[in-house]
Amino acid sequence: MSASIIDGKQLGAEIEEGLKSSVSKMTASSRAPHLVVVIVGKDPASFVYVRNKEKACKRIGIRSTRYDLPEDSNHDDLISLVRKLNDDPEVDGILIQSPLPSDFDEIGITEMIRPDKDVDGFHPVNLGRIVTGRTDGMLPCTPSGIMKMLEWTGESLKGKKALVIGRSRIVGMPAALLLAQRGIDATVTISHSKSEDLESLCRSSDILIAAVGKPDMVRKEWVKEGAIVIDVGINRVEVGGRIRLVGDVEEGASEYAKWITPVPGGVGPMTISMLMMNTVRAAEARMY
Ligand code: GUN
Repeated sequence: MSASIIDGKQLGAEIEEGLKSSVSKMTASSRAPHLVVVIVGKDPASFVYVRNKEKACKRIGIRSTRYDLPEDSNHDDLISLVRKLNDDPEVDGILIQSPLPSDFDEIGITEMIRPDKDVDGFHPVNLGRIVTGRTDGMLPCTPSGIMKMLEWTGESLKGKKALVIGRSRIVGMPAALLLAQRGIDATVTISHSKSEDLESLCRSSDILIAAVGKPDMVRKEWVKEGAIVIDVGINRVEVGGRIRLVGDVEEGASEYAKWITPVPGGVGPMTISMLMMNTVRAAEARMY
């Protein structure tokens, strides 16, 4: 079998097309949605991610503002900025780029963002809503992008065995909850660094979500024949003196899978499109 590709770039572009018309209506009747991104310090990968978010805003017509705080700024500086943005009626979405410098309490800062402006979907109110079965709010972007990609395949997930590898609050945990929600009805296993016999877990799974950040963590022959593979990893590895981006799943897994996401061009662009969708939704909720 050679897997069909779930093209996140293409699907993300289609979603953005849909958002453009909502944005132009909003802009004509009131004002453009407004996303504020805050970056602290000089993490080079963060600059790349933030630039990609700014480019997406531009494509769609979303206003974006960026605050660059110096590496040596303190917690109070960031807290007062978040308070100011929370209170600003012209700001719809607030995103604090992760990682913050190590002396910052990242989870504490996330909790200070107003839940209705939390376009990352990381606030406990937004994460908690998923547990109650409400999936119409600010969903975390990578998990909701994964669900859109699964939906796009047209495959039924009902009763299927889904394995989520990784239990982060940003990807693994919410992705597991979304897969198990009523109406989707997958049978979900969450595995992590202490899980025994990952190979057998993978071999018996119809849906594999790899979100650990370790290149080739999932060997290609572990993939069940006909499985759907969503590779969330974006790992920089050096091959022959050049840096390449690879996922968590070994290259060649498409010989076994029915559907697979590429790296790059899979989950990454979908995450950005979901951020744009959350920003538009946040703005609509404020304006209408
Ligand atoms: N750093 C890498 N990806 C993300 C993201 O989706 N949101 C935030 N806030 N920081 C990130």
